[in-house]
Formats: sequence, structure tokens, C-alpha cells
Amino acid sequence: MCGIFGYIGEKEAVPFILEGLKKLEYRGYDSAGISTLDQGKLFLSKRAGKIADLEKQLKKKPIGGDIGIGHTRWATHGRPSHANSHPHEDCQGKIVVVHNGIIENFLELRRELSEKGHKFISATDTEVLAHLIEENFSLPAGPLRREASRQGGDLHKAVTKALKFVRGSYALAVISEHEPKKIIIARNGSPLIVGFGAKECFLSSDIPALLKYVNMIIKLENDETGIITPNKLKIFNSEGKLIKRKRELISWDPESAEKDGYSHFMLKEIHEQPNAIRKSIEGRIFAESHKIHFDELNLSDEEMRNINRVVFTACGTSWHAGLVGEYWFEQFAKIPTEVEYAAEFRYRHPIIDENTLVIAITQSGETADTLGAVWEAKAQNAKVISICNVVGSSIARESHGVVYTDAGPEIGVASTKAFTTQLVIVYLLAILFGKRKGKISDHDATKLINDLIELPTKIEQALYQEKAIEKVAEKFYKATNALYLGRGKGFPIALEGALKLKEVSYIHAEGYPAAEMKHGPIALIDKNMPVVVIALAGRRYEKILGNIEEVKARGGVVICIATEGDFSLAESADEVISIPKSSEALSPILAVVPLQLLAYYIALKRGCHVDQPRNLAKSVTVE
Ligand code: F6R
Repeated sequence: MCGIFGYIGEKEAVPFILEGLKKLEYRGYDSAGISTLDQGKLFLSKRAGKIADLEKQLKKKPIGGDIGIGHTRWATHGRPSHANSHPHEDCQGKIVVVHNGIIENFLELRRELSEKGHKFISATDTEVLAHLIEENFSLPAGPLRREASRQGGDLHKAVTKALKFVRGSYALAVISEHEPKKIIIARNGSPLIVGFGAKECFLSSDIPALLKYVNMIIKLENDETGIITPNKLKIFNSEGKLIKRKRELISWDPESAEKDGYSHFMLKEIHEQPNAIRKSIEGRIFAESHKIHFDELNLSDEEMRNINRVVFTACGTSWHAGLVGEYWFEQFAKIPTEVEYAAEFRYRHPIIDENTLVIAITQSGETADTLGAVWEAKAQNAKVISICNVVGSSIARESHGVVYTDAGPEIGVASTKAFTTQLVIVYLLAILFGKRKGKISDHDATKLINDLIELPTKIEQALYQEKAIEKVAEKFYKATNALYLGRGKGFPIALEGALKLKEVSYIHAEGYPAAEMKHGPIALIDKNMPVVVIALAGRRYEKILGNIEEVKARGGVVICIATEGDFSLAESADEVISIPKSSEALSPILAVVPLQLLAYYIALKRGCHVDQPRNLAKSVTVE
């Protein structure tokens, strides 16, 4: 939800910032802007549209300087426009601010500042920050000035003072003509990371955007502010006290954050799933001794035994992972399990206690509602663990325990490899709890673990169907509606398939439990609406065949995801996409792969911006 990138050093700032913003474009891409300081003077270039549009604008009218901050926006307050684009300025054009997050009391602040004579030109919440800093900025004279600058200078002081009036979430960066050799930063809720080079520092909303330049970083924590100069970052707590923090080495391979020859990140990330799963299970499963171990789970054997209820909480695709998890936890661990949308869970006073395990699933670890759900669960004394892909993210740190998926950076806005690695971790957790609670034998645990070890190779085989899936996409890409049906664990996969399609292709798609079709959606069926059915071998196979017949009897068009070797489906279905045979328990992970590819190729043929679908952001850090 908006991306910030900054540079301070000895080189021209704009090329770095443009490059960084392009990497952050997945966080928001309806407008962009950069401000620099050149010989102590502020320059600004911004506009509605993509970073590429800003780049063109900068080519025509360049701005220079070795200090700068940039922003790529995902509109919350005010439509995408020049005025609403960041950076935002104070009245005198001497202070500029970029911001990610939401200032909840901005209307109140705006009114008070207007009464004091500040003039606003945008509809954004961010603009109040620029004016609030201006309002709190004063240049004392003489020794007082020296003292102020020892503590971080007046600009830093002004930012710290201004933030005392602010309610909401923010990551922000400020530069000013008043003190032109520094960038002031602050964080509460939205991520901000500083990377260190030789006599230069970078600032970013995420780590992948920094990887090309640096591998030593410091993450700013909530309620902290900082002053960045070319050689240094000084961090202060909310009381203005200097804090010491060590730089961290990032082990992510910069290559893995690039497209690696694929035309889109989404396609690359779909293909990365076998290895992402291998990495996510490596060192955690020991098939011979049927052991599963997670370093940072932070739950004793006794605590695990005492858990009598599991609640998954998440948003979007991660919520779908929880829905599959419900089946596994009830099947392997025999623990009653529920799945809650994080935004609903956090506000409805859930009845949970110290024997409830709340599992927050989140790729980014920064989703505002999931974070709120974690706080609520902790407030009710539940045990909270999170499944996250980003080490040290807010949700990981707020949870009692964490299991990281090792999917590597996911750049495509539509989640793919993060989802399948989440599923793998949930599967292992369910087996682990089953073992601790004595509900699963060592023999069965070994079998389940061995099935998982074979999964990455089976996904590789499923990916061989890519060409066939592209052909199916060719036939259906003009559809305006689609229905996805599944039973059992196939139902959440139907939901996920439908979500993928609507996100990237803008085709209206719905996922349904197949049996529910005749209670309403059947009215939609006609020859123009593809019905995608997850029809895998297993307990519910016969029932799903019945559903396919119901669709065909009404002139519907059926695309089946079937188990390899199932020839009978070819007679009833219009298209059959096969996936390798696997255990029934793991079939949902395999079944989602062709659905990801189908959504990708349909979107591609419709000319959609696959990696950055309209209106979406990768990391939703607002409620
Ligand atoms: C869909 C998608 C979103 C996210 C959701 C939660 O492809 O990516 O639905 O799953 O916004 O995000 P995280 O997992 O970061 O909490």
C-alpha cells in the first residue's frame, strides 16, 4: 500500500529512486513522485499514472541532486491526480513528505491547521503531515540551535513533535531546504528499511528493492524516528532518546527478486513453487524419525497438548490457506478448527482463551487487519502463532511464535508461491499437533511426511501442462463470468482459483462448494460461462461427477482439473487439465497450480497488467 524509496550519498539520486520505485510498484501504482535536494534547493516532479510516466516526465524535465525521496501511490484519500500524488509540500515549499499508511485524524488536523492559516491543495491525509511539521518547525538561534542540532536538528524535532498529534499508521520520509543534508524518517505500522552502502544510504518500504545495492540493513521499528545521512542512520525512540541497533545481513539472493527471464513475476513465481516448497520444508521434517521441528514455534509440548481449539485468521488468499488448514487440523489433530476473516475476527469479541491457538497466516506479515486480529487474540490470552514469508515483519514479531515460509520475495501482486508454501506449513503443523495430542501414529505421520517430500516433483509435473492450459485460456479469455466448484478441500481451492482469475483478468468469478450450486448459482449457467470443476480422485469423486452432469444438462461448459489417468471425465467435460496422482490430503496444493496458470494466461490474452492488477496492492497496511 504505497511504496517509499530514498537515496542519500554522492551520486545522482533520481536514477536510484526511479529504479527502487519500479521495484515497489506492486505496492501501488496510480501515481508517483520524487523530490530531491540539489545544492540545498528542493525540486519536485510528480504525476498521476505509472512510474514509467513519471520517468518520461523526468526525461523531459530532469531534477538533480544527491538526496531524494520518492513515492508510488495506492490511493486511499483522494483520487489519483497530480495534486494528490506524493511528495506533499508545506506552505512555503521548503519541507516535503512521502507517506505510506493512513492518518486517521487527518480531518481534525486539517481543520486546526487551516484555522492557523495553512493552505491545503490536495485531498490526501498525507498533506497534513507536511503542514504539521512546518507548524512545529522553528529555528532557534545561538547555543539553543547547537543543542537542537546535537539532538538531531530542528527538522527531526519538528517531525517528532508533529507525530505526537497524529493517530494512524505511517512510514514517512521528509526532506527539507532548512536542513538539506539529511532524510528524516518515522515509522508506526508501515514498514521502512534503511540499507547501507559505501558513503550512501538507501531507504525502502521493502527489502527486495534494496537488494541490488546493499545487503546490510536496519529495519525501523514502530514509534521510532531516524535521521539518515550518507554514512549513518541515527535512530530515536518516541521520547527522542538515541537507540543503538546493529545492521542485519540480508541473505536473499538479489537474482531471486528479479524476473529471471520470465515475462512476468507471477509466471516466475508459479514456476518457483517446487523449490519454494523444498526450501520451506528443508530442515524441518525428518521422515525416518517422523519428526517435525520449527525453531521459533515457541510452544511447549504441554501447551500443544492443551490446545483444544484452533482459529485461523487471515485475509484473501491467506484466508483460503486457513480454509484448507481447517480440514487438515480436524483430520490429523482432531482439534475443532475455525477460519475467520481477520477484519471480522478482530472486532467481534471472539470467545477464545489460553487453550485456543490462533494461527495468523500472512505472506507480507504487514496486513493491517491480520495484525489487528493478532492483537485481539493476544488480548484474550490466546496463544498466537503466525505463518509469514517476511522475516521480522510486524505480525511475526507480534506473535508468540512464528513459522516462516521460505518462498523468497513474492513480487507479483497475485499470491502464488506464498500460498502453496503457507499450505505446506499448515499441513506440517496439523501433523505436529496430531502427534503431540496422540491422534496420529508415528507410522501415519511418516507416510504423510513422505507424501510431502514427493510434492515438489509432482508440482513440476503439473507445470508440464502449461501449454495445454494456455490453449484452454485461448478458448475462454473472452468470458465475462466464471464459476469454480469444488468439494472438501477442493472448495477452498475453487475459491482461490476464482480469486486469482478475478484479480488478474478482471473476469467476474465465484467459487462455490459444488453441492451449493443448485441452491442458486445454477441459474447463471449457460454456454458462455465456463465452469471450472476440481474433480480429483478420492472420496467425493462420484458426487462431483453428479455436479458436472448438472452443469452439462443445462448447456454449461465444463473445464475439469482431474487426476492423471482419469479418462472417463473426457466424455463429460469440455476441457480436462490433469495433475499427477497424489495423496488426497495434498491434492489441493497440486490442484491450485493449473488454476494459477489458467488465470495468468487468460489475463495475458486480455492484455491485463498481470503483475500489477488495477486497484490492488501487494501489502494492505490499512484496514
Ligand atoms: C491475492 C492476495 C491477497 C492477499 C491478502 C493478504 O492474490 O495476494 O488476497 O492474500 O491481501 O495478504 P497477506 O498474506 O500479506 O496478509
